[in-house]
Amino acid sequence: MRSYSLIAPAKINLYLEIIGDRPDGYHELAMVLQSISLADQIDIRPIEIDTIFVQCDSAAVPNDNTNLAYRAAALMAQQFPEAMAQYGGVEITIKKRIPVAAGLAGGSTDAAAVLVGLDLLWQLGLTQGELEDLAAQIGSDVPFCIKGGTALATGRGEVLSPLVNLDNLYVVLAKYRSLAISTPWAYKTYRTQFGDTYVREAEDLQSRRQRVHSGGMVSAIMQRDGAKIGQLLHNDLEKVALPEHPEVLKLREAFASQNVLGTMMSGSGPTVFALTESERQALEVAETVRKQLANPDLDFWTAKLSSTGITLA
Ligand code: C5P
Repeated sequence: MRSYSLIAPAKINLYLEIIGDRPDGYHELAMVLQSISLADQIDIRPIEIDTIFVQCDSAAVPNDNTNLAYRAAALMAQQFPEAMAQYGGVEITIKKRIPVAAGLAGGSTDAAAVLVGLDLLWQLGLTQGELEDLAAQIGSDVPFCIKGGTALATGRGEVLSPLVNLDNLYVVLAKYRSLAISTPWAYKTYRTQFGDTYVREAEDLQSRRQRVHSGGMVSAIMQRDGAKIGQLLHNDLEKVALPEHPEVLKLREAFASQNVLGTMMSGSGPTVFALTESERQALEVAETVRKQLANPDLDFWTAKLSSTGITLA
């Protein structure tokens, strides 16, 4: 039986607006999610014994059942017990390139790769919709990671509308190695500080969604207008993360002073990214800001915006 190697891209948030509370305890969101070429590699190999093994070359990633890749495999085993009985267990090897706990959906994209890989290995022939439904049981960003590209994400983040391809743009990213921001903390703090602005009535929610759909960011993306996209970058979670972590604000300001289309924190942070028109500009900005801040705790990456989600390596 063959093994599969999959490429699992990171994502950035070009837009993240918190709209209100949901009955399931999550937040109602309007986001624009964007895949980038910075990616992990996931190898899935059948093994004789009837179990799921996860291993990763990064010590920062747990190899127990808190790992989202493990949880994706466990969900598939639970949903398709006959396949597991027929094909045996799996060994999942994660080659980690995406920084961990960074706001770049590193764990979510690994989980998405496991769903796609096991669908292939077990010859299940699941549809995109079936894969996305399973993905939503693992985490809010996992459904997007399957198909990737550029998409408007509403609901918890799992209701996806594809937008146009932006792979003419580039990104420079930076993160303090020793800093992690907990996603539940970011949302909980936002609720405490800004909960009084939440839309609460179902009708208001509907009209707010419509407004977001026709919003400036979506039309800038449809026009593939890099300058406008850069100006309209938005992330509500910056309102809680930046006051708490002034070093992240400093990084954002350093990017903003460069030749970039725009800069923003991704997801619940702490990674900050800046969009550029060329790979050369992205590399130059990384070099200049690295020298300017001269902080050995800062890591930089450059990447291209990508139109793909999980693909075979
Ligand atoms: O869905 P996921 O497990 O990735 O979400 C992590 C945490 O982020 C949730 O436990 C919740 O605290 C917060 N969250 C939220 N609303 C969303 C997505 C995430 O409150 N739509």
